[in-house]
Amino acid sequence: MELTPEAAAARIEQLIREIQEHDYRYYVLAQPSIPDSEYDRLLAELRKLEERFPALRRLDSPTQRVGGAITKEFPVVLHRHPMLSLDNAYTIEELREFERRLLRLQPDAVLTYIAQLKIDGVAVSLHYEEGLFVQGVTRGDGVQGDDITNNLRTVRNLPLRLRGTVPAYVEVRGEVYMLRSDFEHLNKEREEIGDPPFMNPRNATAGSLKLQDSSEVAKRRLRFFAYFAEAQGLPDADDEVMQYLRSWGFEVVQTHGPSSLTEIEGFILQWEKQKDALPYDIDGVVIKVNSRSLRTKLGSTAKAPRWAIAYKYQPEQAVTELYSITYQVGRTGYITPVAELQPVRLAGTKVKRASLYNYDEIQRLNLHLPDVVIVEKSGEIIPKVVRTLPERRPPHAQPVKPPSHCPECGASLLQAPGEVGRYCPNYKHCPPQVIGRLEHFVSRKAMNIQSLGEKILRKLYQRGLIRTFSDLYKLTPEKLSGIEGFAEKMPQKIVQNVQSSKAVPYPRVLYALGIRHVGEAVAQKLAEAFTSIEALYNATEAEIAQVYTIGPIIAQSVYSYLHDEENWREIEELRRVGLQLSHKSLMRLDNLPLSGKRFLVSGTFPSVSRDTLISYIQENGGIYASGVSKNLDYLVVGEDAGPAKLEKARKLGVRMISLSDLEAMVGRPVQRL
Ligand code: IVH
Repeated sequence: MELTPEAAAARIEQLIREIQEHDYRYYVLAQPSIPDSEYDRLLAELRKLEERFPALRRLDSPTQRVGGAITKEFPVVLHRHPMLSLDNAYTIEELREFERRLLRLQPDAVLTYIAQLKIDGVAVSLHYEEGLFVQGVTRGDGVQGDDITNNLRTVRNLPLRLRGTVPAYVEVRGEVYMLRSDFEHLNKEREEIGDPPFMNPRNATAGSLKLQDSSEVAKRRLRFFAYFAEAQGLPDADDEVMQYLRSWGFEVVQTHGPSSLTEIEGFILQWEKQKDALPYDIDGVVIKVNSRSLRTKLGSTAKAPRWAIAYKYQPEQAVTELYSITYQVGRTGYITPVAELQPVRLAGTKVKRASLYNYDEIQRLNLHLPDVVIVEKSGEIIPKVVRTLPERRPPHAQPVKPPSHCPECGASLLQAPGEVGRYCPNYKHCPPQVIGRLEHFVSRKAMNIQSLGEKILRKLYQRGLIRTFSDLYKLTPEKLSGIEGFAEKMPQKIVQNVQSSKAVPYPRVLYALGIRHVGEAVAQKLAEAFTSIEALYNATEAEIAQVYTIGPIIAQSVYSYLHDEENWREIEELRRVGLQLSHKSLMRLDNLPLSGKRFLVSGTFPSVSRDTLISYIQENGGIYASGVSKNLDYLVVGEDAGPAKLEKARKLGVRMISLSDLEAMVGRPVQRL
């Protein structure tokens, strides 16, 4: 049916409202009302309509959250009111002093307060006109900040349009933050593609908000907590303003009160104990006078308002001696300094090492060797060095010089332009880099060659048996015999598992190469756009960059990797030994032993993981089904298979087979653990 622009506009309006309603229920009320799949369907319909009718694309459309806009330089804007910071208190006595000060300034005031969790994120100010999000600005120096509107649009729970009746103009302030789980996920992903990790969620948030490409920001899963609003006609009591913020669709920081200072002390102590159980980092509690008219009377100093104070939690700290700094070399040659410490007890564990992230951090701390340092553990698991105690530093101590040579191979280190930290450029011969690459190559999501763990790879490397990926495919049981510590069947098992990996499809091979910035998803995208590695090789950098979500940085990395002579020679070698370097081999899917048949696995198998079994089925042309139905051809039955599944399969006449039946169908065994 042909859709008129009017009908499309109406449907778009309806979809936007519906999605906004679901966002509100999910983020603000924490009561999701539809399954993810249904939500995705609404979003997909909206996206399709907007593609067909680009003129109807609206600024408040949730499709805007995927980003796309590039900002080369963020325009600087003046804040309407300065974004001040807060005075700090570290003890309850200091809080009481704060109250006495207020009473000196306003002797007749009846003081009630609200207390809010102090989110350890990045402060921003948001502007809404007629309910529409029009501008978002960083704190900057407090007087002026950067206009990061495009990046903020990607923050999932930041309302692009306010709900209900709203004033003509509202300024909302709050904190952009990252869940700890998202932070850990991000760092893992960065490690996978060879990028240095972020220190903590706040750092990751700040770094993300400054990215030029908003579609990259969208992937960082940032969130927003509101704690302040200014508009005409708002009530005098700030706790009521928080209710307004909620009704407009904001996630509001956990608020207590209005109440007396004594009661707030309870809130402070309670969260000090519970803060590690929160899914995000807080560094204290903010206590604010609840009456907004009283706030105006109290006013501000140049630095901070007089009507609020931050009670800061002290992370557990310990003093110890720094006796050495070691440097670890990662798969991509990136050097991470590690502080070697005199063991000390901290938050229930014994700490002997702390990450220093990169050389800049050593400089910032002005570390000497030896030195006396304060280490602390806050939300993070890994302890960090907070500062030195120069007064206790031994007189012979020397400042730490930047590492000039690779601790593993001796090559001179380089610093990449525009990046912190240093790296070892001896990509081809630096042992941890070579072994790190091999480890990545055999890992589960790449070639999935089990039985080749880090220790064994290191052994094979030390024996000179492997240097490149293709060397793995040239291993024979003879070459592997006589290596100490190997169980009897080990050599055969390794060779067999290596050979089985030749069936791994092209996108995963592309990922396995370990090209910087090419994670699983990027490899998949590249393989979709360029159906063979030659096609990718023949593409220009600009052509690669045009692939949706790829962009110039990844393109540059892919292009220079493939056009390195030695790399390309290795890729040809991989083809010669039989790896899948194009989708063409997938076209042959109909000739594979399990082609066209649907399989399902039930139960467990003593020596084969479920993931391995599923990819074994898929690599051999089979389709992995989602459940038992009459379309299912085979149910592979293991130990403790679900009785309901078995019964259903029996009723529907599905054939039930064992693992060895399956292996017989394929004609080669599956990889064992
Ligand atoms: S109120 C005029 N409330 O802490 C004072 N700030 O150390 C406005 N922060 O710059 C701040 N959570 O970025 C307030 N619930 C909260 C907060 C909060 C985090 C941050 C904010 C501020 C910094 C001051």
